[in-house]
Amino acid sequence: MRPCGQTFIGDTEGFPMNILGIETSCDETSVAIVQDGTTVLSNVVYSQIKEHEDFGGVVPEIASRSHVTKLLPVFHKAMLDAKLDPKDIDVIAVAQRPGLMGALITGVTFAKSLSYAWNKPFVGVNHIYGHLMASFLDDAQSPSFPIMALIASGGHTTLIHMNDPSDYHIQGKTIDDAAGEALDKGAKMLGLGFPGGPALEKAALGGDPLRVSFPVAIADRLDFSFSGVKNALRTYLEKNKELDEQHHKDVCASYQEAIMQTLTDKLHMAVQQCASKSIVICGGVAANEVLREKLHQRFEKDNLFVTPKAYCTDNAAMIAAAGYTVYQTQGPSDLDMIPQSHGGLTF
Ligand code: KG4
Ligand code: ZN
Repeated sequence: MRPCGQTFIGDTEGFPMNILGIETSCDETSVAIVQDGTTVLSNVVYSQIKEHEDFGGVVPEIASRSHVTKLLPVFHKAMLDAKLDPKDIDVIAVAQRPGLMGALITGVTFAKSLSYAWNKPFVGVNHIYGHLMASFLDDAQSPSFPIMALIASGGHTTLIHMNDPSDYHIQGKTIDDAAGEALDKGAKMLGLGFPGGPALEKAALGGDPLRVSFPVAIADRLDFSFSGVKNALRTYLEKNKELDEQHHKDVCASYQEAIMQTLTDKLHMAVQQCASKSIVICGGVAANEVLREKLHQRFEKDNLFVTPKAYCTDNAAMIAAAGYTVYQTQGPSDLDMIPQSHGGLTF
């Protein structure tokens, strides 16, 4: 199914459209080829985690330099995996915003160069919109509109009601930290590695999620607030300096529980308030097993679309999926398009 049934610029009736996606907005160098916004022919991701590990977070200069050296080999592998020639590519899509400026420049410059050399159109897309469109990838059945979606990543925690891919309304968002940010900072306090979300998930295995009741502030309506739970963890660790192994696991599990329960509860509230046929969850935090389990318990199986794990954290397949929809409705970008480091979700 095509995520959008609207005007299709450049559609050749009966032929699939191959979009080459490029993602370099933060610390993943990725190139993918996706057919018709849904079928992934290849998705190569080089993660820079090891290069940033020692610093406990992403170092922008290291990220930019790494993209420069890794982008070409990643691109060649994506073309080989998909068994396609340049002539088979119809459109080039690139993450243009938001992200680290030096990192974005690498991908955008590469996309423009390919577009010029191959004489193919290119389109710049919003990275967060890419996370949303990831839920259309590779599943036997795509979500049906209207959709209630939760994007939970390192930089965003947003509830969105979508009538179609280009008509959406933000229902709630975080007023301070994003869920992923709260997990990353909490993991740091607990002496865990980077990135914090997966490290915390691992450290929480065998822990009691009910041992410590970490309060999460109830922000207005469907908004989120995670700075309070972070401070509650800090205070707890100041009062309990020497944690034995089991106690440490219990604190990890309890902190994770507080955040995942809040995400589940707010999504449930949103679904009750806005009529929707499908419920979608995406973004890096959606890779979390505790959250996935909670969602499966809370929502009807037929309505719930939990993004496949491979497409939760940053990848280029989601950029290609988003590029397909943006290209259909808006046409190609101009070669003078420039990257933007800031901004929320835009179509
Ligand atoms: O979507 P993403 O890859 O990048 C952004 O656009 O921000 O999300 C990264 C965030 C990080 O905060 C990371 O700790 C979190 O997603 N994350 C997870 C898991 N995998 C990644 N959080 C919880 N459990 C996971 N398994
Ligand atoms: Zn992301």
